[in-house]
Amino acid sequence: MFVWRNGELFCENVKVSDIAKHFDTPLYVYSKAEILKRIGQIKSVFGDTPHLIAYSLKANNNPHILRIIRESGLGADTVSGGEVKLALETGFLPSKVVFAGVGKREDEIELAIERGIKLLNIESEEELNVVENIAGRVRKKIHVALRINPDVSPKTIDKIATAKKTSKFGIDLEKAEKILKTFTSRWVTITGLHVHIGSQIFEWEPYMEAVKKVEHLFSLREFSTFDVGGGFGVDYEGIGREFDFSGFKINVLKYLKNYVEEVITEPGRFIIAKAGILVTKVLYRKRDFIIVDAGMNDFSRPAYYGARHRIVNVVKRSGDIGMFSVGGPVCESTDVFGRNFELELPERGDFLAIMDTGAYGMTMASNYNARPRPAEVLCDGNRYTLIRKREDLNEILWRGIPD
Ligand code: LLP
Repeated sequence: MFVWRNGELFCENVKVSDIAKHFDTPLYVYSKAEILKRIGQIKSVFGDTPHLIAYSLKANNNPHILRIIRESGLGADTVSGGEVKLALETGFLPSKVVFAGVGKREDEIELAIERGIKLLNIESEEELNVVENIAGRVRKKIHVALRINPDVSPKTIDKIATAKKTSKFGIDLEKAEKILKTFTSRWVTITGLHVHIGSQIFEWEPYMEAVKKVEHLFSLREFSTFDVGGGFGVDYEGIGREFDFSGFKINVLKYLKNYVEEVITEPGRFIIAKAGILVTKVLYRKRDFIIVDAGMNDFSRPAYYGARHRIVNVVKRSGDIGMFSVGGPVCESTDVFGRNFELELPERGDFLAIMDTGAYGMTMASNYNARPRPAEVLCDGNRYTLIRKREDLNEILWRGIPD
């Protein structure tokens, strides 16, 4: 939905440069049509399997975007009391909310139990006991799933793999076996299993490997749900690389249908990454460097993971094409969005777009260097709407400071 017309980048039917002039930069711009397209794609994969697609709020939690996702019938995958609250306040039914997270505080667990969410994903035996105590205290029943660490390697960047033996996530298989054999409670019922092996994955095989590793647990209890996690990769390079959903459907989903009534999945990136761009303004040029007004505080994936996102001129120039490094204003050497971008030499004041930044962009933005976080705009056909104001410097500088 980000397309070129006459040398100008459009979001749906709106010129990105018009939006940037209107709201200033750095600015996240999203396409509603792309979000809906992605939701349609994932629904068609899970279509004939009883399922819940629980969108992972951590990827992008703008309330306007959450409403679009909720109205499309999806549920919510949350990882904190804040995300549980946000999901419920943006209208997700508690029966469609799941709550994972390796370090849930008691108040967060209590909130989830009180609100009657669908499932708490348990990450340790100790946490299971805490949940049982809290449920007993508030006298409310809760369904839980055990998040298993199946010790598989999903062939992705190490920093976003989550199911290796060395990772902090999930319960080891032996421990899970023990819990399933012995745990009984009036308040807490184990109704599901959960695995999440990592993020930005393209092959179905690691998912199958994870399912096979936990298969023997199905003989210990009846489970109604199996949550395969999220992690479906997106084509950041723009080379047509796609997650192998047909292999996933034929192998993983078909297999799971033998064991459970409902398959849950928690995609984040797949739904929202390609629906967003970060628009930034060129401030200065020197050597091969283009210094822009967006920094690692606005978009941190390149600095955190060495991730490479394409960068384009928002309005094409007829000038020379060159290879440039693009860096932000933050006082850190890692505040560069990458090197060797092929760009037309921009003028000071030109707009550039950092592509595919809808996921883990704004949600990971910070106030580092006392920088306000960007505004967010949503395009829908010919219209564009401000869906989050730029942060106000005066608010952030003194927030939380006692007199
Ligand atoms: N479920 C669980 C339990 C998760 O931990 C995650 C992501 C997801 C679902 C959604 O994964 P997705 O479908 O979006 O890949 N900030 C990193 C990604 C961290 C992912 C953390 N967990 C990045 O920008 O690449």
